[in-house]
Amino acid sequence: MGLSTTLGVPQADAVPRHVAIIMDGNGRWATQRFLPRVAGHKKGVDAVRAVVEACAVRGIEYLTLFAFSSENWRRPAEEVSLLMRLFVHALEREVTRLARNGIKLKVVGDIEAFEPRLRELIADVEARTRDNDRLTLTIAANYGGRWDILQATRRLLAARPELAARPELLDESALAPYLAMAYAPEPDLFIRTGGEQRISNFLIWQLAYTELYFTDCYWPDFDAAQLDLACQSYRGRERRFGRTSAQVRAQAAPHVSNGS
Ligand code: IPE
Ligand code: IPE
Ligand code: MG
Repeated sequence: MGLSTTLGVPQADAVPRHVAIIMDGNGRWATQRFLPRVAGHKKGVDAVRAVVEACAVRGIEYLTLFAFSSENWRRPAEEVSLLMRLFVHALEREVTRLARNGIKLKVVGDIEAFEPRLRELIADVEARTRDNDRLTLTIAANYGGRWDILQATRRLLAARPELAARPELLDESALAPYLAMAYAPEPDLFIRTGGEQRISNFLIWQLAYTELYFTDCYWPDFDAAQLDLACQSYRGRERRFGRTSAQVRAQAAPHVSNGS
């Protein structure tokens, strides 16, 4: 399980271990070109392929992509069903490539709402890539940060019913193992493309100490060079986790702190 950023100070390396991305701007990318929104979503799948490989090459261990939020059901029915079809096709088409490239695929979110065909496909791809360890690619589908906290609380109480009568025993480390991404460290770097500066109910618990990066680049245009810009911005951040700057510097170079 990933180390909690609020219970301890994690090691902050130059390369983020976990990058989480809100892939936004597909619709505007298409509209700008007088194309239907679907064209943007299709092009967005190509960007996913490129960014997955770029992350693996750069030694990023976990990549989490927001593909469909719990609020995206509010979109027109045709767009929702098209997104579902695109998801099915992408899984069918990419499974061999993922397996061959050492990528482990996980899907987080309330997948009970999906059609049986899609649920089976998800289970199949997860099983076929289970033993891979080059990069863990998580697709957040019908995911919402509030859903995640609620489902974790429900599962915790079902497993430990005595907590209902002893709420003082409920703490962060009791709940965290039940969160959908308990297998991964918390994201080091969050990227949102498309120009909006909001979290849109993504990983609200897990982003507590994540470095945030926003770019106007629309998702279909996001590539390895754009990823490098985000990583470069990340490297320039001082991750204090509540401490002072002097403490951070002393920890980074303890041998020079006595002035010799
Ligand atoms: C992100 O692009 C993809 C999904 C939410 C599925 P959008 O479809 O939100 O694109 P814009 O924001 O309308 O440009
Ligand atoms: C967030 O994008 C969800 C995904 C990228 C899957 P939206 O386009 O749905 O976000 P809002 O509605 O602009 O906040
Ligand atoms: Mg959008």
